[in-house]
Amino acid sequence: MSFTAFTQSIVDLAVLNPLPGAVLAIITLFGVVKLGNLFGSYLAVLLDTLVRRGTPLTTYGSKAGAWAVVTGATAGIGEQFAHQLARAGFKVLLVSRTQSKLDAVASELKEKYSGEVATFALDAASAGDKEYSQLAAFVDDLEGGVGVLVNNVGQSHEMPVPFAETTKEEMHQIIQINNVATLEITRAVIPALQKSIKTKKSKRALILTMGSFAGLTPTPLLATYSGSKAFLQGWSSALGAELAPEGIDVELVVSYLVTSNMSKIRRTSAMIPSPKAFVKATLRSLNRRGGAQERAYTSTPFWSHGLLHWWIENALGVYSRIVAVFNRKMHVDIRRRALRKIAKSANTQ
Ligand SMILES: NC(=O)c1ccc[n+]([C@@H]2O[C@H](COP(=O)([O-])OP(=O)(O)OC[C@H]3O[C@@H](n4cnc5c(N)ncnc54)[C@H](OP(=O)(O)O)[C@@H]3O)[C@@H](O)[C@H]2O)c1
Repeated sequence: MSFTAFTQSIVDLAVLNPLPGAVLAIITLFGVVKLGNLFGSYLAVLLDTLVRRGTPLTTYGSKAGAWAVVTGATAGIGEQFAHQLARAGFKVLLVSRTQSKLDAVASELKEKYSGEVATFALDAASAGDKEYSQLAAFVDDLEGGVGVLVNNVGQSHEMPVPFAETTKEEMHQIIQINNVATLEITRAVIPALQKSIKTKKSKRALILTMGSFAGLTPTPLLATYSGSKAFLQGWSSALGAELAPEGIDVELVVSYLVTSNMSKIRRTSAMIPSPKAFVKATLRSLNRRGGAQERAYTSTPFWSHGLLHWWIENALGVYSRIVAVFNRKMHVDIRRRALRKIAKSANTQ
């Protein structure tokens, strides 16, 4: 049957069997509600990312002598969290792998903001019970209380790689760092956050965890990283609902690409901000959802990431086949270019 004939048959059917008024009214109402919802949530993305401010950092004790704990604090996004939280008045505990890098960032922060800074070296890939107990004791002893935990440490694949070819070492490290360490560190710090609220060192406390678009949409050739970040979405949202009544705000921070060592991207663009711009957007909109309007305890705070998140979610669906196929093509291409670059540099040596 041709398209014209098919359309004509639908029209004929409608004329022969006009819908009862009540059914038409329900369909119209449904359409109006759906469109109103879409319009409202799009407007909310624009307001959250460009206009409205979120919960101020003073709520978490920035001006009252409280500490902020930042993991993966010696580079990229984590280093920027450390800078911007210190500038806001927090004392900062830097947690990362390499003591020499921790010392360098600590002295820069002290020089720039003249607040208290402490360091705690921890390798998230290999830490065990002993290290996490030591961290819990260290954090518990911090005078002034702990108002903020930023779970920023994370690892991705060296380059896009088919799952079956991923080395066991890389696979285990990603899960260990992104998931096991994030959960262990949060368990170690929660008692200190609770104590700060109980002893009125801060009105509320905050746990931010770095998510990723790779966790928002299934990302072929980064399958382990993608799954590890999707895990953080479920875990963080559940934790958010658990801890809200106690006065602890939990937020998964969803990000598309940001310039850093991990992304291997140096040049910023409208879609790819610097860590400084990304963290600024995150801290100015705490407890706003940005592009993550349909997700509780989640935010996509950077404006262009927020719009992209909204369009993917509403136009295609984050788990749609179209998105997965597009992501696959994109990462096959990135892998091809990365392999070509390696071969080229091997030839010139
Ligand atoms: N950049 C992006 O495009 C992007 C996009 C979405 C989400 N994210 C997420 O944002 C977070 C930060 O990413 P980034 O790009 O800023 O990373 P980055 O520039 O590579 O910095 C990673 C930080 O984590 C530390 N670290 C790495 N492995 C560690 C380990 N085993 N134990 C303890 N510390 C370790 C590093 O310390 P060392 O200096 O000692 O190695 C460094 O301070 C990650 O969770 C990532 O998944 C990033």
